[in-house]
Amino acid sequence: MTARIIDGKAIAKTIETEVAQAIARLGFAPGLVAVRVGNDPASEVYVRSKAKKARELGLRGDELILPDSTSEADLLAHIDRLNRDDAVDGILVQLPLPPQIDPKKVIDSIDPAKDVDGFHPINVGKLHLGRPTLAPCTPAGIIRLIESTGVTIAGCNAVVIGRSDIVGKPMAALLLQANATVTIAHSRTRDLAAAVGGADIVVAAVGRPLLVTREMVKPGAIVIDVGMNRLEAGDAGRIAHDEEKSRLLAKNGTVLVGDVDFCRVREVAGWITPVPGGVGPMTIAMLMRNTVTAAEWRR
Ligand code: GUN
Repeated sequence: MTARIIDGKAIAKTIETEVAQAIARLGFAPGLVAVRVGNDPASEVYVRSKAKKARELGLRGDELILPDSTSEADLLAHIDRLNRDDAVDGILVQLPLPPQIDPKKVIDSIDPAKDVDGFHPINVGKLHLGRPTLAPCTPAGIIRLIESTGVTIAGCNAVVIGRSDIVGKPMAALLLQANATVTIAHSRTRDLAAAVGGADIVVAAVGRPLLVTREMVKPGAIVIDVGMNRLEAGDAGRIAHDEEKSRLLAKNGTVLVGDVDFCRVREVAGWITPVPGGVGPMTIAMLMRNTVTAAEWRR
């Protein structure tokens, strides 16, 4: 048996349609401002796609692009201005930030009501208390992907590999909220294979290429791959299947792989997300969802 593929692109489209309908009902265009400091190439792509997708769905989507040399005080002044601007419903500051800026101070300065990333300590606290809040986009999107399988999360054993503030920790909170029995594995976990082997749901979010192997995964499990690792072409030999290699080979000769050995794990899993086209599209869709929710709650 091979796993069914969870089509993140298609599920993201249905969320985007819901968002467009919700905006039409609102009768005004909620405003999202995506802030980028500096010229990190990945951040350039993310911030541009977020603002563009917002406009596509009928939101007001703006990019605020600041130079790499921006001081912490300058960035905080910009955020203060956006916090006070009534036409702005969502503020997102793309991470990572240049070294002169403390990301904690920046996150703490965003009005929690406009914190569409769900990173502010107030929103993190509400998430862990199970109260309504703006939940971080990637884990919120993953819950939708898991729900799309029709498997009931309640009672499942779930393992989250990775304990980042952006994915691992909020993922564990959302799975617990859905009544899963949750294990968080990380770099100091002694026996990863044992933790993964007991899991009905595996969420891999550590940034270690091909960490989750076929031998670890329980037959029939749902496997969600958050990894986005670029391997140099020379390392591509680690990918077992030639047809996969050619599919994933980018123009610049690097290869994009997840944290899961997709080709082999799909032979035992019940459901699996591809990289790309699994978790990625959901993150942006949920950001749009959060922006509309922020507008509905705040206005
Ligand atoms: N950097 C990596 N992921 C994210 C995210 O979800 N939001 C922001 N703001 N920055 C990121």
